[in-house]
Amino acid sequence: MSKDLLPTTVVIFGASGDLTWRKLGPALFNAFRKKRLPVPTEIVGFAFDELTEESFRQRLREGAEQFAGSFDEQIWNEFAAHLHYRQGNFSEAQDFARLKRTLESLENGLANRLYYLATSPHFFATIVAQLGRLGMEKGAAGSCNVVIEKPFGTDLTSAEALNKVVQAVFKESQIFRIDHYLGKETAQNILFFRFANTIFEPVWNRNYIDHVQITVAEEVDVGHRGGYYDNAGVLRDMFQNHLLQLLALTAMEPPTSFQADAIRDEKVKLLKAVRPLDLDHAVRGQYEGYRDLKNIAEGSQTPTFAALKLYIDNWRWRGVPFYLRSGKRLNTKATEISLVFDKPPHLMFDMPAEELTPNVLSLCIQPDEGIHLKFETKVPDTMQAMQAVDLDFHYRDSFEDVILPDAYERLVLDAIQGDAALFTRRDGIQRSWELLDPVIRAWENDKGIPLAYYEGGTWGPTEADQLLQIDGRRWHHGCTH
Ligand code: BG6
Repeated sequence: MSKDLLPTTVVIFGASGDLTWRKLGPALFNAFRKKRLPVPTEIVGFAFDELTEESFRQRLREGAEQFAGSFDEQIWNEFAAHLHYRQGNFSEAQDFARLKRTLESLENGLANRLYYLATSPHFFATIVAQLGRLGMEKGAAGSCNVVIEKPFGTDLTSAEALNKVVQAVFKESQIFRIDHYLGKETAQNILFFRFANTIFEPVWNRNYIDHVQITVAEEVDVGHRGGYYDNAGVLRDMFQNHLLQLLALTAMEPPTSFQADAIRDEKVKLLKAVRPLDLDHAVRGQYEGYRDLKNIAEGSQTPTFAALKLYIDNWRWRGVPFYLRSGKRLNTKATEISLVFDKPPHLMFDMPAEELTPNVLSLCIQPDEGIHLKFETKVPDTMQAMQAVDLDFHYRDSFEDVILPDAYERLVLDAIQGDAALFTRRDGIQRSWELLDPVIRAWENDKGIPLAYYEGGTWGPTEADQLLQIDGRRWHHGCTH
């Protein structure tokens, strides 16, 4: 039987946690509803909490009702019949031995298997080592893959240590390091927009582009994740993964094929061309009131906002600045990539060049997914007055009946099917830590580097605006107008 058609078992470590409840449960339910899961797919939750199978199903049901977008009682009942729960301790070999027996009896000798590590990161190495000790990296005569959640390490050294532990048990082709931004439809569309069209790529370079901006703004604060966040900060939480991945998709060269390694080779090549970051081009901020939250250290210097300017030293991008920013408690939730074009070389109109709005192409990743192009237009019934207008594409208008799937739905299916194109390879993880480690270290160790405070509900500290102003530029909001 072809491996694609085999029955499948998905084992979720950390099945009683928030990620399973909010994301994985709803994603698997939706995939089942759309008949995209292999038949049958058995889902086995494993966690420390004393849940019965019934209470586990109930918990996932509540998650699906709240987050799946659409809920149907009958389909849920069919799905729930495939949900199982095993209580266990990640450090107990005997609990893994019990889990192994459960899997073997469910699989009956022939199945693909996917382990999903949805736990706190400090359990990743322990779980993988337990699986290795019992020979569970092989599964039952099918494929056996492992998904590892972020953060993958906290710096280069710890990421490498984790890579070694995981690679001692699983082959690289079995390892799926997840970055949920890569599963977002609009992030995937960056490659289609760039490489399935011919009109953009000729101008997608230093000859026409003045600079590029990548914004991942969040309105929310750190909520109940204070303990994790205060040790992580925005560079580890958002830049090492999501922002650098968006940068790579925006700036990389065309891959030769849509195969996982062809895409990942180009992304890594791009990240390797990023010039070491300059501390003078890095702004860190913290929102007022952050320190009052639960589990935040007194006098914490953890940045909840960062803005960076970086350069890519290759033929295409030499001399073009890339400005990246991300933060919590900002004015709005918005992820957008804006390519700001050069102004015309000669202006024949009666208008100072500074007053001309540059062309801006904005890839609106979320929440109002689409693509906008800003250009100058003559104001009707005037001699020479101009106004910048927008040419907009919105997913909601062009794909009226389609609900954009949650990123996890696509990523879980890809991991089950063994397609690693939207997952990060070891060298990609290494390179992103290599780039950020020096800034993180400097910010953590050199208390002299200023931490700029900002009021919640704004666009972050004014220092982030100055980062562009000294270059004669400003942040664009190309997706919100
Ligand atoms: C996660 C971060 O990876 O991404 C969170 O840990 C952040 O801090 C989240 O809130 C943002 O994801 P999204 O999909 O809501 O933009």
